[in-house]
Amino acid sequence: MSIPPSQHTAETGHDLSVRLGNLTLKNPVLTASGTCGYGREYAPYMDLSKLGGFVTKSVTVKPRTGNEPQRIVETPGGMLNAIGLANVGLDEFMEKKIPEIATLGTHVFVNVAGHSVDDYVTVCRRVDAAPEIAGIELNVSCPNVADGLMFGTDAALLRELVQAVRPVVQRGVLIVKLSPNVTDVSLMARAAIDAGADALSMVNTFLGMVIDIEKRRPVLANASGGLSGPAIRPMAVHLVHKVYREVAREAGIPIIGIGGIRNWQDAVEFLLAGASAVSVGTTLYIDPTTPLKIIEGLSAYLSHHGMKSVRDLTGAILQPVPSTSTSAKLTGAEG
Ligand SMILES: Cc1cc2nc3c(=O)[nH]c(=O)nc-3n(C[C@H](O)[C@H](O)[C@H](O)COP(=O)(O)O)c2cc1C
Repeated sequence: MSIPPSQHTAETGHDLSVRLGNLTLKNPVLTASGTCGYGREYAPYMDLSKLGGFVTKSVTVKPRTGNEPQRIVETPGGMLNAIGLANVGLDEFMEKKIPEIATLGTHVFVNVAGHSVDDYVTVCRRVDAAPEIAGIELNVSCPNVADGLMFGTDAALLRELVQAVRPVVQRGVLIVKLSPNVTDVSLMARAAIDAGADALSMVNTFLGMVIDIEKRRPVLANASGGLSGPAIRPMAVHLVHKVYREVAREAGIPIIGIGGIRNWQDAVEFLLAGASAVSVGTTLYIDPTTPLKIIEGLSAYLSHHGMKSVRDLTGAILQPVPSTSTSAKLTGAEG
């Protein structure tokens, strides 16, 4: 479908609002954690008040300088990063960043990371007390110092974490950001929801490695990193659809779809797969105005398809047309 530029307007009378816990977002488009700083960095490039929501980079108890360089490398259709949670730390975030965030004019979600359950509880408690903040996104792709396990890859540990955080997140929406680096993401979704998550966001980056063959060394100082960008989109869409179908739809828990979104067409894909909203990450480095273009494109798509609300797109994927041959079923999905 091609949309004439004149139709590229969000003021067409369509309802773009979506629900996230006890909040209503004016539209379903957010920024992804770690790709948009604390907000003010992007203010010269886009009107952040037009976003459905803004997600900060991960905040930890103490300031972190992150990993040694090289921390980023471009890959076909994406990028690999091992930033190592570089951030200003909780005290500076509360004192200096929150007053700036208050001026963004949209719902702000603070992404929280830690290396122990207590770390998360400490950050969540203070952040939740700030009325400027709409909610918290838990980055569970961090190792727990106690046993080295990643919070987001062990269902029991994830449940313990969300159960501990839930009572201190009393005002804001609690979003749990799932890692794709697991055997069955639905088990993690179930653990997060049972422990009290209001929403899920998915996915964080896929583990990857790039090797410099002349030096015979990994390009990243950390050796491995997280893959993001268009290369991961089909995998992310698959995982969103799986969690929607197996867990989230029945539980009535919204999913924020993340992974390689470049434009409104990609956003529609995630919504049809089961997401209620989307976050844009790596693409911001190519065109920081992408979220605003997606908002306009969604409105035009609704108009073109005679739909009134963007909420009607969530999970509206149709099943494949049945094949007359049984060979497709017998060979399975992996070719
Ligand atoms: C440079 C960079 C830094 C990131 N930092 C964080 C972070 O601090 N916390 C987090 O939860 N996710 C972080 N992410 C993951 C993104 O929020 C997002 O889940 C992932 O990149 C997939 O989306 P994308 O393909 O649109 O970038 C980071 C991603 C990139 C590329």
